[in-house]
Amino acid sequence: MKKDKVIIFDTTLRDGEQTPGASLNANEKLKIALQLETLGVDVIEAGFPRTSPGDLDAVKTVSKHVKKPIICGLARATKRDIDDAYLALKKAARARIHVFLATSSIHRKYKLNKAKDEILKASVDAVKYARKKISDIEFSPEDASRTEPDFLAEVVEAVIAAGARTVNIPDTVGYAVPGEFGSLIRYLNENVSNIGKAVISVHCHNDLGLGVSNSLEAVLNGARQIECTINGLGERAGNAALEEVIMAVKMRKDIFKGITTGIITKELYKTSKLVAKLTGINPQPNKAIVGENAFSHESGIHQDGVMKKRVTYEIIRPQDVGFSGSKIVLGKLSGRHAVSARLKKLGYFLSDKELDQAFARFKTLADKKAEIYDEDLATIVEDDLATVTEEYKLVNFQVTSCNKVDPLATVDLKKNKKLLSATATGDGPVDACFKTIDKAIGQKGKLVDYRINAVTSGKDALGEASVKVSFGKKIVMGRGSSTDVIEASVRAYINAVNRLSAKATKAKKKTSKK
Ligand code: KIV
Ligand code: ZN
Repeated sequence: MKKDKVIIFDTTLRDGEQTPGASLNANEKLKIALQLETLGVDVIEAGFPRTSPGDLDAVKTVSKHVKKPIICGLARATKRDIDDAYLALKKAARARIHVFLATSSIHRKYKLNKAKDEILKASVDAVKYARKKISDIEFSPEDASRTEPDFLAEVVEAVIAAGARTVNIPDTVGYAVPGEFGSLIRYLNENVSNIGKAVISVHCHNDLGLGVSNSLEAVLNGARQIECTINGLGERAGNAALEEVIMAVKMRKDIFKGITTGIITKELYKTSKLVAKLTGINPQPNKAIVGENAFSHESGIHQDGVMKKRVTYEIIRPQDVGFSGSKIVLGKLSGRHAVSARLKKLGYFLSDKELDQAFARFKTLADKKAEIYDEDLATIVEDDLATVTEEYKLVNFQVTSCNKVDPLATVDLKKNKKLLSATATGDGPVDACFKTIDKAIGQKGKLVDYRINAVTSGKDALGEASVKVSFGKKIVMGRGSSTDVIEASVRAYINAVNRLSAKATKAKKKTSKK
């Protein structure tokens, strides 16, 4: 490993999946992992196998099919966790077990009820146990940034001696500020005698909005692995966003002298879109690098400046992160071959079955919309890739709405071969449809968030609806697209219902394993 290459450890599939409302099945994780491989990440943390049979299965699937990056599984410092991680990673070409145990006084006292020497011993024992199984072991002293620095150094030194090749310093609760976090990394570099035998990694959360800044400061102080996620997903306010870290290092070579990464930046936008689609969580429009407004210039002065010389107001060429200008590509008369060729150009290499499905949706769309843009095509393909098992399928819906009486909706769904039909009224046509779906499935959902976005411009634009629905304590996301916003909303709600039932199936499997 070149000394100044920063290893990019992507944890979208593990910490990113801990984003409230995000949940990915094995198939969805595989799709993202394959794209992360294309993006050029060095390590993919594919999950936390001990937490559920579904996650163990997902890590197994990723290990079997994704061969270039190291595949990593998370484990607490217990034999059972390590055994499950090892089991999940068996088929990986290159595997890593990531063991963690909290070291801070707050976690020792309130969470673990353990003294320092017990934490030290448990950490060393876990690393030694994992090392007997595979050689690539990473250790994280959880809540490192709130741990006494001398104790942290003691733990880091001990786990390296026990065989950890990577020591990851998490700012678990996003409490650190850049100067302080950089100093902590420097302190470890200077005070851990065997630090040269391991790579220092950082894992920064974004509770103060400083995840990316802290990660960058750590690199300037000797860290050579960054743990991050696509779109900055992750527990609570999320993790450092991969795309922001990468572009900062790339754009500011004057500061990050000699630092390289293996990331192919042209793949960033596509990766972001795929993750948004499959998790159901869209980055906000003003999100750096991948937000829809990241390269839009609104004010006349700025537009004028950019037209005269791009660098006046644009530091990154949109194409360098994979944004493409919207082009008219296809229409009603375009054939399967043309659609397939265009999809390949956009980076979607589909199986025959997937192409059949995409082409059928393309034809339906082309009947309603004269010009099909790249973004439309990407949306319908990614919709199909949102592979949550469709327990409930939309057969038909109808809604009547006027300004005098409450709108009335009728929805027909299919569950296996059974037809479920219901009729209900609501506060508006969308509400009426959602209430009708609730009635048909026999569960009551509460709409927490609802958004409609136009994928492209024009009256016949494809609309993409996203919903966040709570069913009791469970919150699920859903997405759907159509040229008709009500149909897009209905599809999004049904997608959320399907995610809910996929979760229930996962939980059932977990209970039956016990
Ligand atoms: O935030 C954290 O501390 C973690 C660890 C498991 C690395 O996610
Ligand atoms: Zn974390």
